Amino acid sequence: MSTSLLEVNNLELHYGPESSRVRAVNDVSLSIHESGRALGIVGESGCGKSSLSLALMRMLDNAVIQYSGSIKMEGEELMTMSDDEFRQQIRWSRISMVPQGSMNALNPVLRLGDQISEPLLYKEGPHKTTKKEAVARTNEVLNMVGLSEDIASRYPHELSGGMKQRGLLAMALILKPQIIILDEPTSALDVSVQAQIMNLLKKLKTDFGLAIIFVTHDVALASDICDEISVAYAGKIVETGTAEQILRDPQHPYTKRLLVSVPTIKSPIPPDFIPGSPPNLSDLPSGCHFHPRCENALPICSKQIPPVIAKGTKHLAQCWLLADKPLG
Ligand SMILES: Nc1ncnc2c1ncn2[C@@H]1O[C@H](COP(=O)(O)OP(=O)(O)O)[C@@H](O)[C@H]1O
Ligand SMILES: [Mg+2]
Repeated sequence: MSTSLLEVNNLELHYGPESSRVRAVNDVSLSIHESGRALGIVGESGCGKSSLSLALMRMLDNAVIQYSGSIKMEGEELMTMSDDEFRQQIRWSRISMVPQGSMNALNPVLRLGDQISEPLLYKEGPHKTTKKEAVARTNEVLNMVGLSEDIASRYPHELSGGMKQRGLLAMALILKPQIIILDEPTSALDVSVQAQIMNLLKKLKTDFGLAIIFVTHDVALASDICDEISVAYAGKIVETGTAEQILRDPQHPYTKRLLVSVPTIKSPIPPDFIPGSPPNLSDLPSGCHFHPRCENALPICSKQIPPVIAKGTKHLAQCWLLADKPLG
């Protein structure tokens, strides 16, 4: 068996205080087999998607009281690395991110080019280059994201939404990472600009072999770019499969509800919203966390954590209804 580019097992990220522990990432496992693949993380707001992204980048808030599990890149365990090693060898240079909402977090008084090249010019940084090399590399990433080189001299307020998003991608790509996490990268953009960014992402994936973790609440958008999709609910991954399997043959009741809750222009059937609301992550329902909202819940669903059932080689779902002989 060959080693995966990224393999995450039993990842936990909890926020305090202890008395109301928020299990934002709860026993999460996922993998990206190789470069040029895209994995979607899909789920409703509040299910822990951004926390998972931050956990992969080891960007931990002061409120974090537990961070554990295994994250391996090309077989190498990252969780045992010191913070210094992680910062110097991994974050931004091997696994990078465009954080949620970062379009509004660009520094208003710095030109875009200076914000992109910043990591190359840190005095003590491991990626220090000459000014000339930094300009050349900045121009290179601007080209990669479809921006002309003269955009480098503009300030954020002189950029359109689409340009800002391309600029953020350039910032995330400057140190040539193998994996990039995109947290709701197109939610702030209008539909036509969103389509342009999606096309750009597909190009980065195929032309440069970039591996993408695409985080979104929109399963249709995820299926547009992702090879595999993991469906998140209340801090857990409840179903994983190829995009095709998730779309055409969803197994988990939550995935099924998620699919019919998406409005489409072509469908004559109006969207059917999921009843109830996602659980409070500091007070999770017993057994399967989805059982209070599940139409087909069995008595056992509120009592025991469901088993992970394999529907096909790559298609897994965690649900009692899929077990051979559901008990009780
Ligand atoms: N820094 C933090 N401190 C405490 N709780 C947090 C923090 N960040 C997120 N949370 C909580 O973690 C849960 C998951 O949030 P988040 O990861 O942002 O989900 P999503 O991105 O899917 O909307 C929420 O209940 C949220 O309130
Ligand atoms: Mg989020």
